[in-house]
Amino acid sequence: MPTITFRNPQGRGSTALTVVVDNGTSILDAAEHCGARVGHACGGNLACSTCHVYVERGMDSLGEVSDKENDIMDKAFDVRPESRLGCQAHVCDEDLEIEISEESLKAWLDEHPELRKVAR
Ligand code: FES
Repeated sequence: MPTITFRNPQGRGSTALTVVVDNGTSILDAAEHCGARVGHACGGNLACSTCHVYVERGMDSLGEVSDKENDIMDKAFDVRPESRLGCQAHVCDEDLEIEISEESLKAWLDEHPELRKVAR
């Protein structure tokens, strides 16, 4: 089974976290399973850009970016060639390495205000 490694699961400077997942698992679902801080304001319904992540390794094994994902990505901050929306990118056979965007980490903290003081 493939693995997904989150380089900054708790924010910048945090220790990387690797989780083993089933093929077809979304990056967002993997993050929720292991406690990595990927925001998801729309609940994975392709209506926000808060699950924006950078795929640092394994991009070629992910499915194509849909037109709708591209449209939503236009609203994201600091978009790079390796950008994907975590709720739309599903792991195949290849292991992934993921960096969570600042936008997504901020969104996660907005969703969990009780942890703001602890996280900073
Ligand atoms: S959680 Fe909103 S687009 Fe992914």
